[in-house]
Amino acid sequence: MRLRRPLSILLGILGAGLLQPPSRRPRPVQKRGRRRWRTPAALYALISHPLPRALLGWDLVRRDVRWVPVAPGTRCVEVGSGGAFYTARLARHLGRGGLLVALDPEPAGVPKAVRRRLRGRPAARVAPLGGDGQRLPLADESVDVLFYGYSLEEMPDPPGALGEAHRVLRPGGHLVLFLWRPVMRGRRRIATEAIAAALFEAQSVRRGPQNIRARYRKPARPAVPAQSPEAEKAGTAWATPF
Ligand SMILES: C[S@@+](CC[C@H](N)C(=O)[O-])C[C@H]1O[C@@H](n2cnc3c(N)ncnc32)[C@H](O)[C@@H]1O
Repeated sequence: MRLRRPLSILLGILGAGLLQPPSRRPRPVQKRGRRRWRTPAALYALISHPLPRALLGWDLVRRDVRWVPVAPGTRCVEVGSGGAFYTARLARHLGRGGLLVALDPEPAGVPKAVRRRLRGRPAARVAPLGGDGQRLPLADESVDVLFYGYSLEEMPDPPGALGEAHRVLRPGGHLVLFLWRPVMRGRRRIATEAIAAALFEAQSVRRGPQNIRARYRKPARPAVPAQSPEAEKAGTAWATPF
């Protein structure tokens, strides 16, 4: 176990190298003066395979989905479900009676592999949905859990996307964030984490050499009488999250 950290750092460096675009390839698209990362489609097959994911990011799907709190009938949205690395296991974790919306800008239905893994097993219903994580096609306060498995870092404006997360989560709902450090770096990561901490209550945060895993909770509405000055204050704070 003494070797685990240096080994982990070494794998992190290799992982970062793997995910950096080679210099002879076209640079990522510039958006509003900021570089925008998109994982090349060809990399999905590789990074969605359990072996490299376990080696590079200590991603163990069965363990990772336990970050998602479950109650009967939980409505969970997997934002950026593309590689479907987590989808089947999340559906099983949520269990019968739950709903898992698999949202991606380019949804391809429920992938065959996911359907195969779920066949005959108790699991939540999986509903694919096309949409942008920065403008979620979901009603206010309609979701129990939002899960981002290394997808927030691909959005041009992660703090703005967290504002959307706050809008669609019900009070008391949970936000589960997995961030991949090589792609989410420097001031961008600091700003993202600062907004997450301002909008939500941090419940658990684990920082590894390559990954940050965190679970936040949207504060429940304050239980104060509607007409009191406290209620007015709380109401204003609620309406202006930033
Ligand atoms: C590195 S992949 C991770 C996919 C999957 N969660 C996994 O772990 O295999 C990032 C995902 O984020 C999605 N994504 C990128 N920009 C997005 C956006 N603006 N809104 C929602 N998803 C987005 C991509 O389509 C892709 O599926």
